Amino acid sequence: MEVLTTVAEMQQLSRSMVSRGSSIGCVPTMGALHPGHASLIKKSAEDHPVTVTSVFVNPTQFGPTEDFSSYPRSLDRDIKIVAENGGTHIFAPSVSEMFPGGYSTEISVGAIADVLEGASRPGHFAGVATIVCKLLNAMLPHEVYFGQKDYQQTLVVRKMISDLLIPVRVSILPTIREQSGLALSSRNQYLTSEQMLKASTIFKALAEGSKIIKQGATVYAKEVELAMQTILGLEADLEVEYAVCVDPHTLAVMEQISKSRGAALLIAARVGSTRLIDNVIIEAQ
Ligand code: PAF
Repeated sequence: MEVLTTVAEMQQLSRSMVSRGSSIGCVPTMGALHPGHASLIKKSAEDHPVTVTSVFVNPTQFGPTEDFSSYPRSLDRDIKIVAENGGTHIFAPSVSEMFPGGYSTEISVGAIADVLEGASRPGHFAGVATIVCKLLNAMLPHEVYFGQKDYQQTLVVRKMISDLLIPVRVSILPTIREQSGLALSSRNQYLTSEQMLKASTIFKALAEGSKIIKQGATVYAKEVELAMQTILGLEADLEVEYAVCVDPHTLAVMEQISKSRGAALLIAARVGSTRLIDNVIIEAQ
């Protein structure tokens, strides 16, 4: 497994692979890899002879009171997981490599980045959009893979890629879950086993919301939100930030759910001091 740490060597490798006829898939991550990341690496490895996984804990997407310094870092373990799943290279730059002195440009994506996660975490999506753009410019992939667990992030990144005409295909793969339904996340490492059980209420609420939409002929978003909030309210140790049923493309508030447009059910909640997000998307019919 080759681990590259500078942008110059990364770009050189990508260019030489392309000149030899290889296509390149990439999986941007912040490390602390879990089976959710593994599923992305595996799919990229099926689709492309070269799969680069980036491992970079991006300081610019963390707020001042968030967990940047305590975020789990485990490069040796990550290298093994990448290799086991068919990845061919890791790009693990330092903070000064990605943000050298004098760096000042930031990408602001607009409305889709201002609501929900964007409202709770000011500056978060500017940090994400900017680093994803920089990672794509370093790895020069044909296809980039993200997990659906960070649904709003997938919309923000798609919009940035389309608005900036970045020539890369975007693939979004399903969320991988524990048996309890809890979505896999690097932040689950912060949870005790008791808290993991409590956190699985988030998926139970999403499943109930999704059942109501699938069974009903005419369904109102408020009805779905109330059902999700009722289930979440049964778990005293969950502090709910939002539990919403919104337009899946714009994240705008909806009144009635249209089968031809679908819906996004999105929840953010804290268990102890750990903030978790999850979603279920009802596809348009
Ligand atoms: O989803 C993540 O792990 C991060 O937000 C990403 C896309 C790697 C950017 O730092």
